[in-house]
Amino acid sequence: LETPLPAERQDETAPSTAPEAKPVYILYGTHTGNSERLAGEAAKRIKAAGRAVKVSDMDSFKIKELSDTDQLLIIVSTDGDGEPPVQAEDFLQYLQSSKARKLDHLSYSILALGDTSYTYFCKTGKDFEEALEKLNASSMVPRIDCDVDFEDDYERWIKEVITALGQLSVSHNGLLIGFPGDKTAPQDGSPRYDRKHPFSATVLQKIKLNGRGSTKETYHLELDLGDSGLRYEPGDALGIYALNSNRLVDGALGLLQASGEELVESYRGPKTLKDALMEDYELTPLTAVSLRRHAEITGNKEIKEILADDGRLKKYLHGRDILDFIAAYPADLSPEIWLSLLRKNTPRMYSIASSQGMVGDEVHVLVSAVRYSAHGRSREGHCSSFLADRIQEGDQVGIFVDPNTRFRLPADPDAPVIMVGPGTGIAPYRAFIQERASRGDEGKSWLFFGERNFTTDFLYQAEWLRHLKEGTLTRASVAFSRDQREKVYVQHKMLEHGKELFDWLENGAHFYVCGDREHMAKDVDKSLSSIIREYGGMSPEKAAAYIKTLQHSGRYQSDVY
Ligand code: 2AM
Repeated sequence: LETPLPAERQDETAPSTAPEAKPVYILYGTHTGNSERLAGEAAKRIKAAGRAVKVSDMDSFKIKELSDTDQLLIIVSTDGDGEPPVQAEDFLQYLQSSKARKLDHLSYSILALGDTSYTYFCKTGKDFEEALEKLNASSMVPRIDCDVDFEDDYERWIKEVITALGQLSVSHNGLLIGFPGDKTAPQDGSPRYDRKHPFSATVLQKIKLNGRGSTKETYHLELDLGDSGLRYEPGDALGIYALNSNRLVDGALGLLQASGEELVESYRGPKTLKDALMEDYELTPLTAVSLRRHAEITGNKEIKEILADDGRLKKYLHGRDILDFIAAYPADLSPEIWLSLLRKNTPRMYSIASSQGMVGDEVHVLVSAVRYSAHGRSREGHCSSFLADRIQEGDQVGIFVDPNTRFRLPADPDAPVIMVGPGTGIAPYRAFIQERASRGDEGKSWLFFGERNFTTDFLYQAEWLRHLKEGTLTRASVAFSRDQREKVYVQHKMLEHGKELFDWLENGAHFYVCGDREHMAKDVDKSLSSIIREYGGMSPEKAAAYIKTLQHSGRYQSDVY
């Protein structure tokens, strides 16, 4: 962690009511910018409560500064595989290493961001906790693990933290700044839209991009932002709220032996059970949280056994949804209790496929319909099936912009970009190239795209060809995996052009990968490192360091899911 003094570091030194107290440190490790934003917000709140605060990303923080504070707050996200964000890797590794000094003086609290639909929910937050405990640091406020809808949990956490810091928020002299989602309308009276207050956007156009006979089902959607005032940057994601299908809602009502007309108290207010199931809860993914709540309420032994065994839990959850669970473990519970087992309707994020420089008050997304069959029943993705099957042009969908400050075009308009994105991973590059074209940027660009078949699945083919012709895209390398016997993937195309790819990197190119996290992004990373080894003449260690430097300087960014 021999990093120079952080550029992004904000030294938030406030007039303190306890001048002798050391500043509270807030360290964040962020994947898409949420932890960073919350850290900034938390700093304002704590400052308003009269304490000096220092905020830093974990990468820019020097270990020896651990002795400059007695109170450490950590806000960190976990990705789907339970991996820490790049920024958090070194700090976590240090805390877990035998080199780490004891931290008897330190009290800490952790806000862990994650997604309950993954097995390793909030693992990075837990890893930090474990490491800090081993080093004798003491917990100030218990760790809070947040699901993707993190606002309420964050609010609870920051309030507890402020109380624990011994500075009640009443002493804030009106400086207290609320969570962005709770902010009142701006001065001009126009409403603000965000995750908690989504904007109802009209669907202007919906086009199936795959040709007849394709094995894929990918939709291009254009939504009208109207006079919402919503702004986004290339690289940002669009949050979309889906409604459940009649099939699932009726299925759930059948299993619960309810008519649907029963009045219930949903977290969004009183409504009929049918409406609550349709609008307010998810019926698709089964998560460990539902099992845990069921077991707590009913004491069911079998569910407890499943929960006690990680392997068994993972296997049980796989491919099952809430309906399977209700069917397998019927219990005589009131509709409201059943609802409390369900996950709140959570928006799905889609990488935005347009630039406002080009499309103005519109936003475009690319959606692949998720359909499969498991345990004898056909299944579909919560939001992708909503967009594919239940939404038509002219309909409205609830949306908000989810900024991703970790997936951005280079600040330098002349910097070359290498963009790897098979399947729907191509979406943000359409935004990138539109943006660069609309600004007249001169930087070179190289697209690596892959899909199954050339004739049916070359997403946005006409647009890429036009960009190539007009010079707004410099190169395109495509891999159609099922047009020949041997699979050809984007990483193979990278290897084929390894020498040039390395030259691009040496000339300052920024490298992007977007799309499948599980296999593709890992394979692309392997290809990248083998290219660096071969054409840079580097040892595996040197190549790893080269990649790390790219990552830490923001020249290797990924948006994977
Ligand atoms: P496949 O379906 O023929 O296996 C978009 O989904 C494209 O990504 C498809 O051509 C798909 O090929 C391909 N793909 C599948 N696994 C991949 C991997 N590990 N790396 C890169 N591309 C992959």
